[in-house]
This record gives sequence, structure tokens and C-alpha cells, in this order.
Amino acid sequence: STASASTRRLSGDPAGIAEAARLLRAGRLVAFPTETVYGLGADATDPEAVARIFAAKERPRFNPLIAHLPDPAAARRQGRFDAFAEALAAAFWPGPLTLVVPATAETTVCDLARAGLPSVALRVPGNPLARDLLQAFGRPLAGPSANRSGRVSPTCADHVLADLDGRIAALLDGGATRVGVESTVVACLGGWPRLLRPGGITRAALAAVLGQEPETAAEADAARPAGPGLLASHYAPRARVRLDATALEPGEAALLFGGARPDGLGQARAVRDLSPGGDLAEAAAQLFGALRALDASGAPCIAVSPIPESGLGEAIRDRLTRAAAPR
Ligand code: TXA
Ligand code: MG
Repeated sequence: STASASTRRLSGDPAGIAEAARLLRAGRLVAFPTETVYGLGADATDPEAVARIFAAKERPRFNPLIAHLPDPAAARRQGRFDAFAEALAAAFWPGPLTLVVPATAETTVCDLARAGLPSVALRVPGNPLARDLLQAFGRPLAGPSANRSGRVSPTCADHVLADLDGRIAALLDGGATRVGVESTVVACLGGWPRLLRPGGITRAALAAVLGQEPETAAEADAARPAGPGLLASHYAPRARVRLDATALEPGEAALLFGGARPDGLGQARAVRDLSPGGDLAEAAAQLFGALRALDASGAPCIAVSPIPESGLGEAIRDRLTRAAAPR
């Protein structure tokens, strides 16, 4: 069974890292910090361990997972890198970038982790605890975000336990994550690179390396066809979410940006400003925690102030649009 009596909280000292690696080698689940969000780690080479991820998350289907590696050399052993992939890896690894590349005959990432696809998603995270863990573990680590399916991604240890306590063997506690939204996913599968998911690396930063913007493609196109609305409502708090709100309805909670003062703010059930000074990096780091806090207020709806579409605003708006999607 995937359930354990309770989840152990491990610190990032050498003993904690060694214990986390031991549990992973035994096929157990261990949540770990990255610079984006916490991951739900399992041995990517072991289909039984990977299956436990889907059970713990209550994922309705076997989506392909990201394999985390300690360094670019280890990643290159798992997939075939064209010139675009090489350039992006050189520019952004370690960091919040995931590359989807053709799997090679030598890949040890199991079919279940790849959802049977001929490609593999690879990421070298920059968080020092994640890198220590990957070094100690010595195998690719499958890691979707460490939340129950359909819930908001976790940006601190308490968020992980709120969703998964008792369902995972251990949690490596690395404090709050720095970036706060997931990695940017880019497919380099021949032809021009395609942006599958906006994230911690902006479109402009990708364009600066590639010489031109990546094509935009839906995650669902590149992975497998998903049921209608399934991916659309991926990042959902319990409350409804209303975007680009300039006035509040009675009883709503307010998610502000840049010191916005929507009409009716005085009556708000709860209020959070993602960045009073209008800094999109700060807003990304605060996003999922703020959604959780406003959800906990019991408000039936979260009204979100307008957020710019530039830079990290693209990833923030992407997550909020999904949270606002009908379910
Ligand atoms: O920041 C992150 O990326 C976090 C941390 C923990 O690393 N992980 C994460 O994993 O967000 P997950 O499973 O929530 O998202 C994985 C994304 C999905 O959009 C999935 O469709 C895509 O990567 N993906 C994985 N393998 C793929 C493949 N072979 N082809 C296309 N898309 C793939
Ligand atoms: Mg996720």
C-alpha cells in the first residue's frame, strides 16, 4: 500500500539526504524541494514506485512525468539532444527548465513514467537540496508537483503535508521555494522548439537563446490527448476564481497585484497582494500560497486583479486561467 502511518519530515543535512535516498531506492515516495515547487519523488526506473505516485496523487490518468537529474551529463544519457536542446540546457540548467527530447535506447526512465511516449521530459533543478538528493540517489527521479491531483501546487513543506501526509514515506524540508511556479516545458523533438508550458523561464529568455521565440503548443498536443477540461482545470483551489476583476462581489476574497484597489475591497472576506510593488517574480513566488490562504477563508470565489502578460506574468496568468476554468 502507498499509505504509511505518518510522513517523516527530514532535514537537508547529510543524514536526512542519505535517508531520503535510501527510501527512494526502496521504492518509497519522498517529497523534495525544487526552486519551482515541491516534487513528489519516486524512482523513475521502477514502474511500481512510479505507480505509487499516481495512487498518492489520485491522478485520474498516467500523465508523463518529469525525470530529475543531478547534472546535464546525466540528462544527456537519458535523451537525444539536438542543437536547440543543447543551447537551452547550457543556458538554463541547473534551473526551472524542462526539456522534452527523444528517448534513447539507453534511457532508464521507465515506460510508465513516460506514459508510453517515445520522448522523455528531463530537468536539472537548481535547488541545492534537490541536487544533493539526486547525487545521493544516483538514478533519475520522477517528480510531479507534490499535491493531490487538481489541487494547487505546493511551495512549502506544510502545503505538501496538507495534501499528502500519511500517503508518502518522507518529506525533505527545504523551506519556501524561490520561483513558486513550475518549470517551463520546451519540446525539442525535431524542427523548431515548442513551448508546452510557460513557467519559471520566460518566453523572452528562451527567445534570447534561440534567436527567435519558440512555437506555442498545448501540453495536451505533445503528451497524450486528455479528456475535455481535464488539463484546463489543473490548478484549482476549492473556491471559484474570477480573473481581471476590477470590483468585488459581496463575500468574495481578493487576490491583488501591484497595490490594486478594486471597488468593494473593504468588504472582502480575505485579501492577499501577490506583490504590492508590482514585481512579477515576487508574485510568482507568492501565487500558490496566496491561493491556498484565500481558499482557507471559505470564500466561495476569489476575485483576481489584472496581472500583466509580460515576463513571468505569462506563467502566472496560465495557472490562474486553469484555476478559473469550469470544472
Ligand atoms: O517545476 C516543475 O516542473 C515541477 C517540479 C517538481 O520539478 N514538476 C512538475 O511536474 O510540474 P508535473 O508532472 O506537474 O508536470 C510535468 C509536465 C506536464 O505538463 C506533462 O504533460 C509534461 O511535463 N511532460 C512530461 N513528459 C512529457 C512528454 N514526454 N511529452 C510532452 N510533455 C511531457
Ligand atoms: Mg502539477
